[in-house]
Amino acid sequence: MTLTEIIASFKSKLNPSKFVDLLERKASFYDEFENGPEENGSGEDSKYNPYFNSGNSSAKSSNAVRIPKNKDEPLIKLTDVWKIYQMGEVEFAALKGINLEISEGEFLVILGPSGSGKSTLMNLLGCLDIPSKGTVCLNSKDISELDESELAIIRGKMIGFIFQSFNLLPTLNTQENVLLPMEFQEEDKQIARQKASYLLEIVGLSNKKKNLPSQLSGGQRQRVAIARSLAVNPPIILADEPTGNLDTKTGDYILEFLDGLQESEGKTIIIVTHDLELVKYATRVVYIRDGEIEKIEARTKKEPGTKK
Ligand SMILES: Nc1ncnc2c1ncn2[C@@H]1O[C@H](COP(=O)(O)OP(=O)(O)OP(=O)(O)O)[C@@H](O)[C@H]1O
Ligand SMILES: [Mg+2]
Repeated sequence: MTLTEIIASFKSKLNPSKFVDLLERKASFYDEFENGPEENGSGEDSKYNPYFNSGNSSAKSSNAVRIPKNKDEPLIKLTDVWKIYQMGEVEFAALKGINLEISEGEFLVILGPSGSGKSTLMNLLGCLDIPSKGTVCLNSKDISELDESELAIIRGKMIGFIFQSFNLLPTLNTQENVLLPMEFQEEDKQIARQKASYLLEIVGLSNKKKNLPSQLSGGQRQRVAIARSLAVNPPIILADEPTGNLDTKTGDYILEFLDGLQESEGKTIIIVTHDLELVKYATRVVYIRDGEIEKIEARTKKEPGTKK
């Protein structure tokens, strides 16, 4: 299968109204307690729903990347995956023979103590790294066989990252950080600005658009990272300790939001954390310790519309 075929196989019709509905329902959350007046020098209206209009031919990208259901094949398959770090003369095995299959539409929580290999695993799931041994297949394609530019395309189109360290660019302000992935995807500039405004409103940062990361709190930086991860509307969202820097209310909000993306959009959400609280959102929990999977627990997803 060529890269073009993989990308093509990931493209199907997004239901934008569901996505927008979800965003709208969540947007009111921050109005209660944080947002100042919208400072919007650029003239774009953040109430306008740019994702709703993404079916419009003028919206060039950012949209409509979804993975067709293929019950026979897992979306991601790890087979006997090892990650060995070389520290001078010393080798350290951070992952030791991981076998894991992840299906489309799962809400997977990977739980483990500090140093157990969660971020290492996430880097492999996100095609940011390749294993030392074993295979990581994304939609049946071994990522080790792809070159860097092919991996970059997959990361850019299919995966939204919420990193533990946020990875915001320090010289770019809030708005520019959210615009960045859309610029990589060559999104129309006007639409990209509308989407950035919209997402920043969702995460309650409309009044911080011009702040550099150094001028934001840890939780606000995390929310910029979340807005950025959603910018191109990817089918897979990988989050490393997404609530680590957030107060309980904000953390719950973010998790409910991701939960909604999984339930109504069918997005695949993969969260690595040491926070047991997040297990309640999972359809499956993978317990990892010292680079090995201890156990995997399937969970019954709550009925739609009922409280967890
Ligand atoms: N580049 C590296 N070189 C050498 N060792 C590394 C490297 N990156 C990670 N490690 C080691 O691999 C192990 C797993 O690290 P990892 O960052 O995956 O842990 P984690 O489960 O994400 O921990 P935390 O919850 O603290 O974020 C740790 O013992 C760490 O010291
Ligand atoms: Mg980590």
